[in-house]
Amino acid sequence: YSPKMVTLSTWLQNSTHTTVLTGAGMSTESNIPDFRSKEGWWNNIDPRTVATTDALRNNYDLFHEFYSMRIDALKGCTPHKGHEILAAWEYKGLIQAIATQNVDGFHYAAGNKNVYELHGSIQKFHCENCAKSAKEDEFLSKSNCKFCGGKLRPGVVLFGEMLPEESWTESLSHIRKSDLVIVIGTSLEVYPASQLPQMTSGKTVYINAEVDASHHNFDLIIEGKAGEVLKLVDELV
Ligand code: NAD
Ligand code: APR
Repeated sequence: YSPKMVTLSTWLQNSTHTTVLTGAGMSTESNIPDFRSKEGWWNNIDPRTVATTDALRNNYDLFHEFYSMRIDALKGCTPHKGHEILAAWEYKGLIQAIATQNVDGFHYAAGNKNVYELHGSIQKFHCENCAKSAKEDEFLSKSNCKFCGGKLRPGVVLFGEMLPEESWTESLSHIRKSDLVIVIGTSLEVYPASQLPQMTSGKTVYINAEVDASHHNFDLIIEGKAGEVLKLVDELV
């Protein structure tokens, strides 16, 4: 085992409060594309043109097409071994919470209870006008809100929107009291989630397929795939 894996497994066992922060890279091994690596979603779509409140209001066809495609891409995908390991670690008390930027719900599906969805969930839908909840097939069939006729949207945070208050404050409080923060599969390019790792006084670990100079201020950097790294560390704890 590489010394880095041994170090991480030791820190994990010795830590009293561990928070995990995940991004799209946590789900690519479940065949869901991430956003910014070469085969990511955003490469042929400018996020600022589709995942925005402006697109929702003034370009609903494009907004609807983008999110229908993302919902479609989720069909048939399931959490992978890495998700399952994080659920086992929570069960064993090795980690206390997961703050995720992902909207796929896979941490819940794998069995984690303490999950904070910073960017909402693509499994939930509501009316942009009256906020009443709606069903997936009402959204997919481009129906209007049955209560007020407003536009339906998925419950994800769009660019420029505030993050769900509770997810943010809970994540921040876990990060602040953590003596270990493990960041997995995120480019840390999106504010304010990207600020979380530096808000802990504990040790910080960055596990990512691509590592660049901007990640130098982590205590431990492991370049690799989430599922593969988690499997190796799991054998040591
Ligand atoms: P941005 O910089 O405009 O958004 C940052 C947002 O976070 C701002 O709206 C800001 O008000 C809010 N914010 C800042 N500090 C906060 C705090 N302390 N508490 C709560 N909210 C706070 O644009 P961005 O950061 O690139 O994107 C905005 C959000 O939309 C991001 O979280 C992004 O990941 C999300 N998003 C989600 C999807 C999706 O499909 N799930 C797609 C695109 C963007
Ligand atoms: N294992 C580890 N890392 C991986 C893997 C993997 N199997 N696959 C991809 N990665 C890395 C990529 O190298 C990339 O650095 O995960 C990172 C994913 O970064 P992004 O694509 O930017 O996704 P994310 O950081 O989650 O984006 C944040 O932006 O548009 C918004 O709301 C959207 O929540 C998203 C936010």
